[in-house]
Amino acid sequence: MQIYDLIQKTRRRQKLTAEEIRFLVNGFTAGEIPDFCMSAWLMAVCCHGLTTEETVDLTIAIRDSGTCLDLSELGQITVDKHSTGGIGDKTTLLIAPITAACGGYVPKMSGRGLGFTGGTIDKLESIPGFRVNMSVPDFIRQVKEIGCAVIAQSGNLTPADKKIYALRNLTATVDSIPLICSSIMSKKLALGADCILLDVKYGSGAFMKTAADAAVLAKSMVNVGNMADKKCRAMITDMNAPLGHTVGNALEIAEVIHILRGEEKNNLTELALSLSAHMLELSKKGSLQECRRMAEQALTSGKALEVLSHMIEAQGGDASVTEHPEKLPQTRTQKYLKAERSGYLSAIDSEQAGLACLELGAGRTANHISIDMGAGLTFLHDIGDPIQAGDPIAVIHGNSETLCELAEKRLLSAIQISEQPVAKTNLIYSII
Ligand code: URA
Repeated sequence: MQIYDLIQKTRRRQKLTAEEIRFLVNGFTAGEIPDFCMSAWLMAVCCHGLTTEETVDLTIAIRDSGTCLDLSELGQITVDKHSTGGIGDKTTLLIAPITAACGGYVPKMSGRGLGFTGGTIDKLESIPGFRVNMSVPDFIRQVKEIGCAVIAQSGNLTPADKKIYALRNLTATVDSIPLICSSIMSKKLALGADCILLDVKYGSGAFMKTAADAAVLAKSMVNVGNMADKKCRAMITDMNAPLGHTVGNALEIAEVIHILRGEEKNNLTELALSLSAHMLELSKKGSLQECRRMAEQALTSGKALEVLSHMIEAQGGDASVTEHPEKLPQTRTQKYLKAERSGYLSAIDSEQAGLACLELGAGRTANHISIDMGAGLTFLHDIGDPIQAGDPIAVIHGNSETLCELAEKRLLSAIQISEQPVAKTNLIYSII
């Protein structure tokens, strides 16, 4: 088999066999296929796409490049959730304890942030002492005892994805539906949960800019999951404005705690309850309606907060942050962003909010960069709220006046205030 012929076939839209795809993935992972050949093939995929069958074969080849977990010893249906990423997206930290508090099992491996999107693992590391690395047997034990564990990807899971993703990042081949689908689904399949709920985001702060593109990606992922014998469902959700009221690592953990303590309720609360209900229904805990009620009860009774506290403790973190979120890292400086005119808050561009956080040090532009755990933004209003000129709209958390002023400039262009009242947006667009 010649790599040249495989590149040519994809370029000419001729279908590759499962064996040819395995040859590509295994050869590249082993270092036998050089970067320039793989880049050419990835670019051909970007330009011409892959068939459903090829996408499944690529996903399976990436899954099988490393170890796959066996979660059968948990003896109960397990459910995983994946979000395609966004700004202020802290849903995992709500849905894992809510679902676990209702008897679900949520084994979760999450990622770090890169560029303007945040990562759950970075957020968790803002809790003093929290360990994101754990052996697989300890991971499984924790899920059995507490109902959930959220750790960084560990062991030798999907090494091919790590290599291919790094190359895609350098070669402008990230935003391809079959490549995104195979990258995400290979990791989900290697983790081994029985059911997978996908939160596929669209909007300015997401990979997919429109709901229609998000639906194509969602259908592709659900298809691949079903063909690999997993129960899969996708929710298409809006990421035009940041999710919840905060963006930034410790700030987002504090927001999760406030929601679980019943002290805050926003669009994120509704999304988390809806996702949790679907996860419980996929886990056969009842009808969707019953599961929704269970999720609400777990939240209002404080049971989900208790689970989060147990999870933090089990992973070496200071669980007292659930009582005292002020113990989380904070910045030296905070600056109010004030409304320049009166009207109704009509938009907060999530990509610009993410970039402002990046400038504040809350995110990283390369893997080796360390992040400022306390930095970020707190939004004080929801879309649709009436605003008076001079009202504070957001708090900018930075470690210097200069950084805060830079973020302020960017944010002012990201926030729109309209003269006409604006309708509150529904985050959930559709379910596939
Ligand atoms: N997240 C992934 O894990 N892979 C992609 O290709 C895109 C987002």
